[in-house]
Amino acid sequence: TDAHTTGPFIAAIDQGTTSSRCIIFDKDGRIVSVGQKEHEQIFPKPGWVEHDAAEIWTNVQEVVEEAVSKAGITSADVKAIGITNQRETTVLWDKNTGEPVHNALVWQDTRTDALCKELGRNVGQDRFRRETGLPLASYFAGPKIRWLLDNVEGLRERAEAGEILFGTMDSWVIWNLTGGVDGGHHVTDVTNASRTLLMNLHTLDWDQKILESIGVPAAVLPEIRSSAEVYGSAAAGALAGVPVASALGDQQAALFGQTCFSEGEAKSTYGTGTFLLMNTGEKPINSYNGLITTVGYRIGDQKPVYALEGSIAVTGSLVQWMRDQMGLIKTAAEIETLALSVEDNGGAYFVPAFSGLFAPYWRSDARGVMTGLTRYVTKAHIARAVLEATAWQTREIVDAMTKDSGVELTALKVDGGMTANNLLMQTLADFLDAPVVRPLVAETTCLGAAYAAGLAVGFWSDTDELRANWRRAAEWTPRMDEDARDREYKNWLKAVERTMGWIE
Ligand code: G3P
Repeated sequence: TDAHTTGPFIAAIDQGTTSSRCIIFDKDGRIVSVGQKEHEQIFPKPGWVEHDAAEIWTNVQEVVEEAVSKAGITSADVKAIGITNQRETTVLWDKNTGEPVHNALVWQDTRTDALCKELGRNVGQDRFRRETGLPLASYFAGPKIRWLLDNVEGLRERAEAGEILFGTMDSWVIWNLTGGVDGGHHVTDVTNASRTLLMNLHTLDWDQKILESIGVPAAVLPEIRSSAEVYGSAAAGALAGVPVASALGDQQAALFGQTCFSEGEAKSTYGTGTFLLMNTGEKPINSYNGLITTVGYRIGDQKPVYALEGSIAVTGSLVQWMRDQMGLIKTAAEIETLALSVEDNGGAYFVPAFSGLFAPYWRSDARGVMTGLTRYVTKAHIARAVLEATAWQTREIVDAMTKDSGVELTALKVDGGMTANNLLMQTLADFLDAPVVRPLVAETTCLGAAYAAGLAVGFWSDTDELRANWRRAAEWTPRMDEDARDREYKNWLKAVERTMGWIE
Protein backbone atom coordinates (compact mmCIF):
# COMPACT_ATOMS: atom_id res chain seq x y z
CA THR A 1 0.00 0.00 0.00
CA ASP A 2 1.22 3.47 -0.92
CA ALA A 3 0.51 5.61 2.11
CA HIS A 4 0.74 8.83 0.10
CA THR A 5 -2.02 7.91 -2.29
CA THR A 6 -5.20 9.89 -1.93
CA GLY A 7 -8.58 9.17 -3.47
CA PRO A 8 -10.79 8.98 -5.32
CA PHE A 9 -10.16 5.49 -6.70
CA ILE A 10 -11.35 2.92 -9.23
CA ALA A 11 -11.79 -0.77 -8.33
CA ALA A 12 -11.18 -3.53 -10.86
CA ILE A 13 -12.37 -7.11 -10.45
CA ASP A 14 -10.52 -9.75 -12.51
CA GLN A 15 -12.27 -13.09 -12.50
CA GLY A 16 -9.45 -15.19 -14.00
CA THR A 17 -8.89 -18.85 -14.82
CA THR A 18 -7.04 -19.73 -11.62
CA SER A 19 -7.99 -16.92 -9.26
CA SER A 20 -10.22 -13.92 -8.69
CA ARG A 21 -8.67 -10.58 -7.84
CA CYS A 22 -9.68 -7.09 -6.93
CA ILE A 23 -7.24 -4.22 -7.37
CA ILE A 24 -7.80 -0.63 -6.26
CA PHE A 25 -6.12 1.97 -8.51
CA ASP A 26 -5.51 5.68 -8.04
CA LYS A 27 -5.74 8.39 -10.67
CA ASP A 28 -2.15 7.79 -11.90
CA GLY A 29 -2.96 4.14 -12.56
CA ARG A 30 -0.93 3.03 -9.53
CA ILE A 31 -1.89 -0.01 -7.48
CA VAL A 32 -3.20 0.89 -4.01
CA SER A 33 -4.19 -2.58 -2.81
CA VAL A 34 -4.85 -6.13 -4.00
CA GLY A 35 -7.18 -8.90 -2.86
CA GLN A 36 -6.74 -12.33 -4.43
CA LYS A 37 -8.09 -15.86 -4.01
CA GLU A 38 -7.63 -19.06 -6.02
CA HIS A 39 -10.50 -21.40 -6.84
CA GLU A 40 -10.62 -25.12 -7.47
CA GLN A 41 -9.72 -26.56 -10.88
CA ILE A 42 -11.95 -29.54 -11.55
CA PHE A 43 -10.75 -32.19 -14.07
CA PRO A 44 -13.50 -34.86 -14.24
CA LYS A 45 -12.11 -36.65 -17.34
CA PRO A 46 -9.22 -36.23 -19.78
CA GLY A 47 -9.75 -32.96 -21.66
CA TRP A 48 -12.55 -31.77 -19.33
CA VAL A 49 -12.06 -28.67 -17.15
CA GLU A 50 -14.70 -27.18 -14.86
CA HIS A 51 -15.13 -24.44 -12.26
CA ASP A 52 -17.71 -24.05 -9.52
CA ALA A 53 -19.37 -20.71 -10.38
CA ALA A 54 -20.87 -20.40 -6.89
CA GLU A 55 -17.40 -20.72 -5.34
CA ILE A 56 -16.15 -18.09 -7.78
CA TRP A 57 -18.88 -15.61 -6.81
CA THR A 58 -18.10 -16.13 -3.10
CA ASN A 59 -14.42 -15.51 -3.83
CA VAL A 60 -15.17 -12.38 -5.81
CA GLN A 61 -17.05 -10.90 -2.83
CA GLU A 62 -14.18 -11.82 -0.51
CA VAL A 63 -11.44 -10.29 -2.65
CA VAL A 64 -13.43 -7.07 -2.97
CA GLU A 65 -13.72 -6.87 0.84
CA GLU A 66 -10.01 -7.67 1.16
CA ALA A 67 -8.84 -5.00 -1.32
CA VAL A 68 -11.13 -2.33 0.14
CA SER A 69 -10.07 -3.05 3.72
CA LYS A 70 -6.33 -3.20 2.87
CA ALA A 71 -6.64 0.18 1.16
CA GLY A 72 -8.37 1.56 4.25
CA ILE A 73 -11.06 3.22 2.18
CA THR A 74 -14.85 3.15 1.95
CA SER A 75 -17.23 2.79 -0.96
CA ALA A 76 -17.59 6.59 -0.99
CA ASP A 77 -13.94 6.84 -2.18
CA VAL A 78 -14.51 4.54 -5.16
CA LYS A 79 -15.95 6.15 -8.28
CA ALA A 80 -16.54 3.02 -10.38
CA ILE A 81 -16.01 -0.73 -10.60
CA GLY A 82 -14.55 -2.32 -13.73
CA ILE A 83 -14.99 -6.01 -14.54
CA THR A 84 -12.64 -8.23 -16.49
CA ASN A 85 -12.67 -11.99 -16.80
CA GLN A 86 -11.40 -15.28 -18.17
CA ARG A 87 -13.23 -15.47 -21.50
CA GLU A 88 -15.47 -18.20 -22.99
CA THR A 89 -15.97 -20.06 -19.69
CA THR A 90 -19.67 -20.83 -19.69
CA VAL A 91 -22.17 -20.92 -16.85
CA LEU A 92 -25.93 -21.44 -16.99
CA TRP A 93 -27.99 -20.60 -13.93
CA ASP A 94 -31.54 -20.53 -12.69
CA LYS A 95 -32.90 -17.01 -12.88
CA ASN A 96 -35.23 -17.54 -9.90
CA THR A 97 -32.82 -19.15 -7.45
CA GLY A 98 -29.49 -17.82 -8.71
CA GLU A 99 -28.08 -21.38 -8.56
CA PRO A 100 -25.80 -22.61 -11.37
CA VAL A 101 -27.35 -25.68 -13.03
CA HIS A 102 -23.96 -27.37 -13.57
CA ASN A 103 -20.29 -26.56 -13.04
CA ALA A 104 -19.04 -23.92 -15.48
CA LEU A 105 -17.35 -25.38 -18.56
CA VAL A 106 -13.93 -23.74 -18.76
CA TRP A 107 -12.45 -22.35 -22.00
CA GLN A 108 -9.75 -25.07 -21.89
CA ASP A 109 -12.36 -27.85 -21.93
CA THR A 110 -12.42 -29.97 -25.12
CA ARG A 111 -15.62 -32.03 -24.57
CA THR A 112 -17.41 -30.23 -27.42
CA ASP A 113 -14.84 -31.40 -29.97
CA ALA A 114 -17.17 -33.98 -31.56
CA LEU A 115 -20.07 -31.52 -31.56
CA CYS A 116 -17.91 -28.93 -33.35
CA LYS A 117 -16.87 -31.49 -35.97
CA GLU A 118 -20.52 -32.35 -36.55
CA LEU A 119 -21.52 -28.68 -36.86
CA GLY A 120 -18.66 -28.19 -39.29
CA ARG A 121 -19.99 -30.99 -41.46
CA ASN A 122 -23.61 -29.84 -41.32
CA VAL A 123 -23.27 -26.09 -41.43
CA GLY A 124 -19.74 -25.53 -42.75
CA GLN A 125 -16.64 -24.06 -41.06
CA ASP A 126 -16.58 -20.91 -43.17
CA ARG A 127 -20.09 -19.76 -42.26
CA PHE A 128 -18.95 -19.30 -38.68
CA ARG A 129 -15.70 -17.56 -39.55
CA ARG A 130 -17.42 -15.07 -41.83
CA GLU A 131 -20.11 -14.06 -39.35
CA THR A 132 -18.29 -14.43 -36.03
CA GLY A 133 -14.57 -14.11 -36.88
CA LEU A 134 -13.94 -17.46 -35.17
CA PRO A 135 -13.16 -20.99 -36.29
CA LEU A 136 -15.49 -23.68 -35.05
CA ALA A 137 -13.56 -24.95 -32.00
CA SER A 138 -14.25 -26.36 -28.55
CA TYR A 139 -12.61 -23.21 -27.08
CA PHE A 140 -15.67 -20.98 -27.60
CA ALA A 141 -18.85 -20.62 -25.52
CA GLY A 142 -21.68 -21.43 -27.97
CA PRO A 143 -21.01 -25.18 -28.26
CA LYS A 144 -20.53 -25.34 -24.46
CA ILE A 145 -24.07 -23.94 -23.97
CA ARG A 146 -25.38 -26.53 -26.42
CA TRP A 147 -23.57 -29.32 -24.53
CA LEU A 148 -25.16 -28.26 -21.23
CA LEU A 149 -28.63 -28.04 -22.79
CA ASP A 150 -28.21 -31.54 -24.23
CA ASN A 151 -26.70 -33.14 -21.14
CA VAL A 152 -28.38 -31.63 -18.07
CA GLU A 153 -31.73 -33.29 -17.71
CA GLY A 154 -34.73 -31.08 -18.48
CA LEU A 155 -32.53 -28.04 -19.05
CA ARG A 156 -33.55 -27.32 -22.61
CA GLU A 157 -37.24 -27.08 -21.66
CA ARG A 158 -36.45 -24.76 -18.76
CA ALA A 159 -34.22 -22.65 -21.00
CA GLU A 160 -36.90 -22.33 -23.64
CA ALA A 161 -39.38 -21.36 -20.95
CA GLY A 162 -37.12 -18.44 -20.01
CA GLU A 163 -36.04 -19.77 -16.61
CA ILE A 164 -32.35 -20.13 -17.39
CA LEU A 165 -29.67 -17.48 -17.96
CA PHE A 166 -26.36 -17.92 -19.75
CA GLY A 167 -23.25 -15.95 -19.01
CA THR A 168 -19.54 -15.83 -19.45
CA MET A 169 -17.91 -14.82 -16.15
CA ASP A 170 -18.47 -11.09 -16.77
CA SER A 171 -22.25 -11.66 -16.92
CA TRP A 172 -22.22 -13.98 -13.93
CA VAL A 173 -20.30 -11.46 -11.81
CA ILE A 174 -22.31 -8.42 -12.96
CA TRP A 175 -25.67 -10.17 -12.46
CA ASN A 176 -24.73 -11.19 -8.92
CA LEU A 177 -23.03 -7.89 -8.10
CA THR A 178 -26.03 -5.80 -9.19
CA GLY A 179 -28.54 -7.75 -7.13
CA GLY A 180 -28.82 -11.32 -8.45
CA VAL A 181 -32.38 -12.66 -8.03
CA ASP A 182 -33.37 -9.19 -6.77
CA GLY A 183 -33.05 -7.32 -10.04
CA GLY A 184 -29.52 -8.22 -11.20
CA HIS A 185 -28.67 -6.93 -14.68
CA HIS A 186 -28.21 -9.67 -17.27
CA VAL A 187 -25.67 -8.06 -19.61
CA THR A 188 -22.39 -8.81 -21.35
CA ASP A 189 -20.05 -6.60 -23.32
CA VAL A 190 -19.08 -6.81 -26.99
CA THR A 191 -15.64 -8.28 -26.31
CA ASN A 192 -17.00 -11.18 -24.29
CA ALA A 193 -19.90 -11.70 -26.68
CA SER A 194 -17.40 -11.90 -29.54
CA ARG A 195 -16.05 -15.14 -27.96
CA THR A 196 -19.32 -17.07 -28.02
CA LEU A 197 -19.45 -18.01 -31.74
CA LEU A 198 -22.98 -16.57 -31.49
CA MET A 199 -22.42 -12.85 -32.08
CA ASN A 200 -22.31 -11.35 -35.54
CA LEU A 201 -19.06 -9.40 -35.68
CA HIS A 202 -20.49 -6.82 -38.08
CA THR A 203 -23.85 -6.04 -36.42
CA LEU A 204 -22.56 -6.73 -32.88
CA ASP A 205 -25.80 -8.51 -32.14
CA TRP A 206 -26.71 -12.18 -31.60
CA ASP A 207 -26.94 -13.91 -34.99
CA GLN A 208 -30.36 -15.55 -35.30
CA LYS A 209 -29.27 -18.08 -37.93
CA ILE A 210 -26.22 -19.16 -35.98
CA LEU A 211 -28.29 -19.53 -32.81
CA GLU A 212 -30.54 -21.90 -34.72
CA SER A 213 -27.71 -23.91 -36.22
CA ILE A 214 -25.86 -24.33 -32.91
CA GLY A 215 -29.16 -24.89 -31.08
CA VAL A 216 -29.12 -22.13 -28.47
CA PRO A 217 -32.43 -20.45 -27.53
CA ALA A 218 -32.23 -16.63 -27.56
CA ALA A 219 -34.07 -16.55 -24.22
CA VAL A 220 -30.89 -17.49 -22.29
CA LEU A 221 -28.71 -14.75 -23.75
CA PRO A 222 -27.68 -11.51 -22.02
CA GLU A 223 -28.02 -8.08 -23.59
CA ILE A 224 -24.84 -7.03 -25.43
CA ARG A 225 -23.56 -3.63 -24.26
CA SER A 226 -20.41 -1.59 -24.87
CA SER A 227 -17.25 -2.23 -22.80
CA ALA A 228 -17.36 1.15 -21.02
CA GLU A 229 -20.73 2.34 -19.70
CA VAL A 230 -22.68 2.08 -16.46
CA TYR A 231 -24.61 -1.22 -16.35
CA GLY A 232 -25.97 -0.76 -12.82
CA SER A 233 -24.65 -0.39 -9.25
CA ALA A 234 -23.30 -2.85 -6.72
CA ALA A 235 -26.26 -3.91 -4.61
CA ALA A 236 -24.39 -4.97 -1.47
CA GLY A 237 -20.94 -5.61 0.00
CA ALA A 238 -17.95 -3.37 0.51
CA LEU A 239 -18.66 -1.38 -2.64
CA ALA A 240 -22.46 -1.11 -2.32
CA GLY A 241 -23.83 1.74 -4.40
CA VAL A 242 -20.75 2.10 -6.65
CA PRO A 243 -21.53 2.05 -10.41
CA VAL A 244 -20.37 -1.01 -12.37
CA ALA A 245 -19.00 0.77 -15.40
CA SER A 246 -16.91 -1.55 -17.57
CA ALA A 247 -16.59 -5.11 -18.76
CA LEU A 248 -13.91 -6.53 -21.03
CA GLY A 249 -12.56 -10.01 -21.62
CA ASP A 250 -9.20 -10.19 -19.82
CA GLN A 251 -7.13 -10.14 -22.99
CA GLN A 252 -8.95 -7.15 -24.38
CA ALA A 253 -8.59 -5.48 -20.98
CA ALA A 254 -4.82 -6.04 -21.18
CA LEU A 255 -4.78 -4.47 -24.66
CA PHE A 256 -6.56 -1.47 -23.10
CA GLY A 257 -4.28 -1.42 -20.06
CA GLN A 258 -1.20 -1.48 -22.32
CA THR A 259 -2.79 1.55 -24.01
CA CYS A 260 -2.72 -0.07 -27.46
CA PHE A 261 -5.23 2.47 -28.75
CA SER A 262 -3.75 2.91 -32.24
CA GLU A 263 -3.98 0.60 -35.20
CA GLY A 264 -0.95 -1.73 -35.35
CA GLU A 265 -0.23 -1.66 -31.60
CA ALA A 266 -0.05 -5.09 -29.98
CA LYS A 267 0.51 -6.83 -26.64
CA SER A 268 1.04 -10.38 -25.46
CA THR A 269 -0.18 -11.51 -22.02
CA TYR A 270 1.48 -14.47 -20.27
CA GLY A 271 -1.05 -16.07 -17.90
CA THR A 272 -2.38 -19.64 -17.80
CA GLY A 273 -2.51 -19.26 -21.57
CA THR A 274 -0.98 -16.58 -23.76
CA PHE A 275 -2.88 -14.22 -25.99
CA LEU A 276 -1.37 -11.79 -28.45
CA LEU A 277 -3.77 -9.10 -29.64
CA MET A 278 -3.17 -6.42 -32.25
CA ASN A 279 -5.44 -3.40 -32.58
CA THR A 280 -6.65 -3.30 -36.22
CA GLY A 281 -8.83 -0.18 -35.97
CA GLU A 282 -12.50 0.24 -36.85
CA LYS A 283 -12.77 -2.63 -39.34
CA PRO A 284 -12.59 -6.33 -38.60
CA ILE A 285 -9.70 -7.92 -40.56
CA ASN A 286 -10.07 -11.51 -41.72
CA SER A 287 -7.21 -13.82 -40.94
CA TYR A 288 -5.87 -16.24 -43.55
CA ASN A 289 -3.19 -17.59 -41.25
CA GLY A 290 -5.03 -19.10 -38.33
CA LEU A 291 -5.60 -16.04 -36.15
CA ILE A 292 -9.04 -14.99 -35.01
CA THR A 293 -10.93 -11.74 -35.44
CA THR A 294 -12.37 -10.30 -32.28
CA VAL A 295 -13.70 -7.07 -30.78
CA GLY A 296 -10.90 -5.15 -29.04
CA TYR A 297 -13.19 -2.78 -27.13
CA ARG A 298 -16.02 -0.35 -27.54
CA ILE A 299 -16.20 2.80 -25.44
CA GLY A 300 -19.84 3.84 -24.92
CA ASP A 301 -21.48 4.68 -28.23
CA GLN A 302 -18.19 5.25 -30.07
CA LYS A 303 -17.30 2.96 -32.96
CA PRO A 304 -16.03 -0.48 -31.96
CA VAL A 305 -12.32 -1.19 -32.28
CA TYR A 306 -11.38 -4.63 -33.60
CA ALA A 307 -8.34 -6.83 -33.04
CA LEU A 308 -6.57 -9.80 -34.53
CA GLU A 309 -5.74 -12.39 -31.90
CA GLY A 310 -3.33 -15.28 -31.63
CA SER A 311 -4.52 -17.54 -28.80
CA ILE A 312 -2.27 -20.08 -27.08
CA ALA A 313 -4.10 -22.40 -24.68
CA VAL A 314 -1.25 -23.60 -22.47
CA THR A 315 1.74 -21.58 -21.22
CA GLY A 316 1.63 -20.75 -17.48
CA SER A 317 -0.65 -23.74 -16.91
CA LEU A 318 2.19 -25.99 -18.17
CA VAL A 319 4.35 -24.69 -15.32
CA GLN A 320 1.46 -25.37 -12.92
CA TRP A 321 1.14 -28.86 -14.33
CA MET A 322 4.89 -29.46 -13.75
CA ARG A 323 4.34 -28.35 -10.16
CA ASP A 324 0.94 -29.92 -9.30
CA GLN A 325 0.67 -33.03 -11.45
CA MET A 326 4.34 -33.96 -12.02
CA GLY A 327 5.77 -32.62 -8.75
CA LEU A 328 9.02 -31.63 -10.52
CA ILE A 329 9.06 -28.20 -8.84
CA LYS A 330 7.59 -26.88 -5.60
CA THR A 331 6.78 -23.35 -6.69
CA ALA A 332 6.15 -21.88 -10.14
CA ALA A 333 9.18 -19.60 -9.73
CA GLU A 334 11.47 -22.66 -9.34
CA ILE A 335 11.08 -23.47 -13.03
CA GLU A 336 13.50 -20.65 -13.84
CA THR A 337 16.19 -21.74 -11.36
CA LEU A 338 15.90 -25.32 -12.56
CA ALA A 339 16.08 -24.31 -16.25
CA LEU A 340 19.09 -22.08 -15.56
CA SER A 341 21.02 -25.02 -14.12
CA VAL A 342 21.63 -26.30 -17.67
CA GLU A 343 22.93 -24.67 -20.86
CA ASP A 344 20.16 -25.74 -23.21
CA ASN A 345 17.22 -28.10 -23.72
CA GLY A 346 19.47 -31.16 -24.14
CA GLY A 347 17.60 -32.02 -27.35
CA ALA A 348 14.12 -32.14 -25.74
CA TYR A 349 11.01 -30.35 -26.98
CA PHE A 350 7.66 -30.18 -25.23
CA VAL A 351 4.47 -29.24 -27.08
CA PRO A 352 1.75 -28.77 -24.44
CA ALA A 353 -1.32 -29.41 -26.62
CA PHE A 354 -3.37 -30.16 -23.48
CA SER A 355 -6.50 -28.42 -24.81
CA GLY A 356 -5.79 -29.35 -28.39
CA LEU A 357 -3.88 -26.67 -30.29
CA PHE A 358 -5.29 -23.18 -30.66
CA ALA A 359 -3.77 -20.64 -33.09
CA PRO A 360 -2.67 -21.07 -35.77
CA TYR A 361 -3.76 -24.75 -36.00
CA TRP A 362 -7.19 -24.96 -34.32
CA ARG A 363 -7.01 -28.70 -33.76
CA SER A 364 -9.13 -29.68 -30.75
CA ASP A 365 -7.94 -33.29 -31.27
CA ALA A 366 -4.22 -32.54 -30.80
CA ARG A 367 -2.59 -33.81 -27.56
CA GLY A 368 0.65 -32.95 -25.80
CA VAL A 369 3.98 -34.56 -26.74
CA MET A 370 7.61 -34.54 -25.64
CA THR A 371 10.17 -35.32 -28.30
CA GLY A 372 13.94 -35.77 -28.49
CA LEU A 373 14.22 -37.76 -25.26
CA THR A 374 17.46 -39.63 -24.55
CA ARG A 375 19.02 -40.96 -21.37
CA TYR A 376 20.93 -37.65 -21.22
CA VAL A 377 17.82 -35.57 -20.54
CA THR A 378 17.21 -34.41 -16.95
CA LYS A 379 14.32 -32.57 -15.37
CA ALA A 380 16.31 -29.38 -15.83
CA HIS A 381 16.30 -29.87 -19.61
CA ILE A 382 12.57 -30.45 -19.45
CA ALA A 383 12.17 -27.23 -17.44
CA ARG A 384 14.01 -25.49 -20.24
CA ALA A 385 11.79 -27.10 -22.88
CA VAL A 386 8.76 -25.97 -20.89
CA LEU A 387 9.85 -22.33 -21.06
CA GLU A 388 10.88 -22.64 -24.70
CA ALA A 389 7.40 -23.96 -25.52
CA THR A 390 5.92 -20.63 -24.48
CA ALA A 391 8.44 -18.70 -26.58
CA TRP A 392 8.03 -20.88 -29.69
CA GLN A 393 4.26 -20.76 -29.50
CA THR A 394 4.53 -16.96 -29.41
CA ARG A 395 6.87 -17.03 -32.40
CA GLU A 396 4.30 -18.98 -34.42
CA ILE A 397 1.62 -16.38 -33.59
CA VAL A 398 3.90 -13.48 -34.47
CA ASP A 399 4.69 -15.11 -37.84
CA ALA A 400 0.96 -15.44 -38.56
CA MET A 401 0.35 -11.84 -37.47
CA THR A 402 3.09 -10.60 -39.81
CA LYS A 403 1.57 -12.52 -42.72
CA ASP A 404 -1.96 -11.25 -42.02
CA SER A 405 -1.09 -7.64 -41.31
CA GLY A 406 2.01 -7.15 -43.47
CA VAL A 407 3.60 -5.37 -40.49
CA GLU A 408 6.98 -6.60 -39.15
CA LEU A 409 7.20 -6.69 -35.38
CA THR A 410 9.57 -4.01 -34.08
CA ALA A 411 9.05 -4.79 -30.38
CA LEU A 412 6.63 -6.85 -28.33
CA LYS A 413 4.81 -5.34 -25.32
CA VAL A 414 4.33 -8.07 -22.73
CA ASP A 415 2.59 -8.43 -19.38
CA GLY A 416 1.15 -11.07 -17.04
CA GLY A 417 2.56 -13.26 -14.27
CA MET A 418 5.09 -15.18 -16.37
CA THR A 419 6.91 -11.97 -17.36
CA ALA A 420 8.58 -12.14 -13.93
CA ASN A 421 10.63 -15.00 -15.43
CA ASN A 422 13.76 -13.38 -16.84
CA LEU A 423 15.00 -16.46 -18.65
CA LEU A 424 11.65 -16.78 -20.40
CA MET A 425 11.69 -13.12 -21.46
CA GLN A 426 15.24 -13.44 -22.80
CA THR A 427 14.30 -16.63 -24.64
CA LEU A 428 11.31 -14.85 -26.10
CA ALA A 429 13.44 -11.98 -27.42
CA ASP A 430 15.87 -14.56 -28.85
CA PHE A 431 13.21 -16.66 -30.60
CA LEU A 432 11.35 -13.61 -31.95
CA ASP A 433 14.56 -11.81 -32.88
CA ALA A 434 12.92 -8.63 -31.56
CA PRO A 435 13.04 -6.68 -28.31
CA VAL A 436 10.53 -7.52 -25.59
CA VAL A 437 9.31 -4.68 -23.33
CA ARG A 438 7.37 -4.73 -20.09
CA PRO A 439 5.52 -1.76 -18.55
CA LEU A 440 5.85 -0.65 -14.93
CA VAL A 441 2.35 -1.88 -14.08
CA ALA A 442 2.42 -5.51 -15.22
CA GLU A 443 -1.17 -5.94 -13.95
CA THR A 444 -2.49 -4.58 -17.22
CA THR A 445 -5.65 -6.69 -17.19
CA CYS A 446 -7.04 -5.05 -14.06
CA LEU A 447 -5.62 -1.72 -15.13
CA GLY A 448 -7.47 -1.92 -18.47
CA ALA A 449 -10.77 -2.68 -16.76
CA ALA A 450 -10.16 0.22 -14.36
CA TYR A 451 -9.31 2.54 -17.27
CA ALA A 452 -12.49 1.65 -19.15
CA ALA A 453 -14.64 2.12 -16.03
CA GLY A 454 -12.90 5.40 -15.24
CA LEU A 455 -13.54 6.69 -18.76
CA ALA A 456 -17.22 5.74 -18.48
CA VAL A 457 -17.73 7.86 -15.35
CA GLY A 458 -15.45 10.76 -16.35
CA PHE A 459 -12.71 9.89 -13.82
CA TRP A 460 -10.26 10.04 -16.74
CA SER A 461 -11.08 12.32 -19.65
CA ASP A 462 -9.74 10.44 -22.67
CA THR A 463 -7.33 7.77 -23.90
CA ASP A 464 -4.47 10.31 -24.27
CA GLU A 465 -4.51 10.84 -20.53
CA LEU A 466 -4.20 7.07 -20.05
CA ARG A 467 -1.38 6.76 -22.54
CA ALA A 468 0.67 9.21 -20.46
CA ASN A 469 0.61 6.65 -17.60
CA TRP A 470 2.43 3.92 -19.61
CA ARG A 471 6.03 3.55 -18.44
CA ARG A 472 8.66 1.08 -19.56
CA ALA A 473 10.08 -0.97 -16.71
CA ALA A 474 12.21 -3.60 -18.44
CA GLU A 475 13.50 -4.57 -21.87
CA TRP A 476 15.18 -7.71 -23.25
CA THR A 477 17.09 -7.63 -26.53
CA PRO A 478 17.82 -10.62 -28.77
CA ARG A 479 21.28 -12.20 -28.59
CA MET A 480 20.83 -15.64 -30.19
CA ASP A 481 22.63 -16.38 -33.43
CA GLU A 482 20.50 -16.92 -36.49
CA ASP A 483 21.62 -20.46 -37.35
CA ALA A 484 20.84 -21.74 -33.90
CA ARG A 485 17.44 -20.06 -33.96
CA ASP A 486 16.55 -21.56 -37.36
CA ARG A 487 17.65 -25.04 -36.32
CA GLU A 488 15.72 -24.94 -33.06
CA TYR A 489 12.59 -23.56 -34.75
CA LYS A 490 12.64 -26.46 -37.25
CA ASN A 491 12.91 -28.98 -34.43
CA TRP A 492 10.04 -27.31 -32.62
CA LEU A 493 7.80 -27.39 -35.72
CA LYS A 494 8.57 -31.08 -36.20
CA ALA A 495 7.52 -31.73 -32.62
CA VAL A 496 4.27 -29.81 -33.23
CA GLU A 497 3.43 -32.13 -36.14
CA ARG A 498 3.62 -35.07 -33.75
CA THR A 499 0.71 -33.73 -31.67
CA MET A 500 -1.83 -34.15 -34.45
CA GLY A 501 -3.64 -36.96 -36.18
CA TRP A 502 -3.04 -39.95 -33.91
CA ILE A 503 -5.71 -39.78 -31.21
CA GLU A 504 -8.74 -42.07 -31.61
O1 G3P B 1 -9.55 -16.91 -23.53
C1 G3P B 1 -9.12 -17.33 -22.27
C2 G3P B 1 -8.46 -16.21 -21.54
O2 G3P B 1 -9.32 -15.14 -21.43
C3 G3P B 1 -7.94 -16.69 -20.19
O3 G3P B 1 -7.04 -15.81 -19.67
O4 G3P B 1 -5.36 -15.00 -18.10
O5 G3P B 1 -7.27 -16.33 -17.25
O6 G3P B 1 -5.48 -17.39 -18.62
P1 G3P B 1 -6.22 -16.17 -18.31
